[in-house]
Amino acid sequence: MADSSLLRGRLRGEGRRRDTSKRSLFSSLKPRVEERFRFLGGFLRRPTSVGALGPSSRALAEAMVDGSGLSACETVVELGPGTGAFTGKILESIGKRTTFFALEVDPIFASGLQTRFPSLTVYNDSAEHMREYLLRHQKKRVDYIVSGLPWASLPLSVQDNVLKAVLETLSPDGVFTTFGYLHARWMPNALRFRARLQGLFRLVETSEIVWKNFPPAFVYRCKQ
Ligand SMILES: C[S@@+](CC[C@H](N)C(=O)[O-])C[C@H]1O[C@@H](n2cnc3c(N)ncnc32)[C@H](O)[C@@H]1O
Repeated sequence: MADSSLLRGRLRGEGRRRDTSKRSLFSSLKPRVEERFRFLGGFLRRPTSVGALGPSSRALAEAMVDGSGLSACETVVELGPGTGAFTGKILESIGKRTTFFALEVDPIFASGLQTRFPSLTVYNDSAEHMREYLLRHQKKRVDYIVSGLPWASLPLSVQDNVLKAVLETLSPDGVFTTFGYLHARWMPNALRFRARLQGLFRLVETSEIVWKNFPPAFVYRCKQ
């Protein structure tokens, strides 16, 4: 696990200060364009970790939480929020008493998220360490896990650790959602990941194709 105080704790003032210079650089751009530039910067910094050229659309964000009943969830966790394409939708949907935090491995994305959503609790660490952060919130179980992780390009060891953490922490009636891209659906890594989900979860539902996303995508909705 990363061990500087900035990296381990909730990003507060330091994250905001670090982001100020980028705000001036992008200040004349519309928010959505700015988000695209930020995302592309992340891809150039860490191509395999980010795994996509642009952020997900609002339509995909809605499909990720469709029918989730997030307002009634006690605990919700987002893995790999990037620039916050799903985070805004989650924040709009959770209840007043829902515990919600995000785990983002890229420090620049993490501090940018804290600036974009000041009320968000975001930890700059790997999703593999979800259990430790749940304990910080006096929680052992999660009702809803939203993952934006790029499964096809993640090292298998990281994939294993994250899936293990998900299985160990998801409530018995909890839901784990993640997404895949249509164009990659039949590629070996994507087929292997789908087979893994089907082996690990009792129920794996696949949504309709979300065409209003670039590239078009679909959502996996998994229950234990
Ligand atoms: C495909 S992007 C998705 C971002 C956002 N959810 C969206 O859909 O626009 C993947 C994100 O996962 C993050 N990520 C990759 N590996 C991670 C890990 N082990 N733990 C936490 N975040 C990770 C990347 O830094 C990036 O922000």
